[in-house]
Amino acid sequence: MKIIKCKNYEEMSVKAAEIFAQQINEKPDSVLGLATGSTPLGLYAELIKMYNDGKIDFSKCVSLNLDEYSPIAYDNDQSYHYFMNENLFKHVNISESNFPSEDDPKAYDALAEELGGIDIQLLGIGENGHIGFNEPGDVLIAPTHMTGLTESTIKANARFFESEDDVPKAAITMGIATIMKAKKVVLMASGAKKRDAVMKILADNIDPQCPATILKAHPDVILICDEEAID
Ligand code: GLP
Repeated sequence: MKIIKCKNYEEMSVKAAEIFAQQINEKPDSVLGLATGSTPLGLYAELIKMYNDGKIDFSKCVSLNLDEYSPIAYDNDQSYHYFMNENLFKHVNISESNFPSEDDPKAYDALAEELGGIDIQLLGIGENGHIGFNEPGDVLIAPTHMTGLTESTIKANARFFESEDDVPKAAITMGIATIMKAKKVVLMASGAKKRDAVMKILADNIDPQCPATILKAHPDVILICDEEAID
């Protein structure tokens, strides 16, 4: 795992944007695995800037988005469809975007295969070490699947909703195998709340109680974090 330790969030966002721009410039028809959350907002703002400056062209790119709440209306401003549209897609010329669907979760993995696999997968990390909505548990679930959300995730995500009760209790997420098949993974972690999870990734073992530790077994992961998120 390559670690890029940045002074602050702005520097993290620029570094991550450089990596995505390089990927897209080298392979204009890249399949992008994209994520939501507050962490990638700065990265998306940088990518929009690069697009407006003519430095990046998404016209041949396809996105496979990491996850979505369930149930949620796609025009709900807390849905991940809405988030991705507002924070990236409507500002750039991306060719196609896809989300996992509760109707047939495994079809998403077949779609990823058909598209030739995910070239670059962006991940944030939950305070409890989740990636996408792969929550801590006794096992890690391989394919794209429906999942209940843990208390910790519901609490952490309540800040985006009017009350904790409004947070959906389930989600559909790319599975661990789906994520691990991506050719390159960019994992971003910002702030002291992520430090425990990040330090577990850097420790020796892979632990399903901290799903992000599986990334230790991936051959091409770049961890981009700020000083608060790592020792
Ligand atoms: C959410 C998402 C994850 C995201 C994580 C961290 O629950 N499902 O994909 O990485 O929480 O979010 P944030 O970046 O806001 O801390």
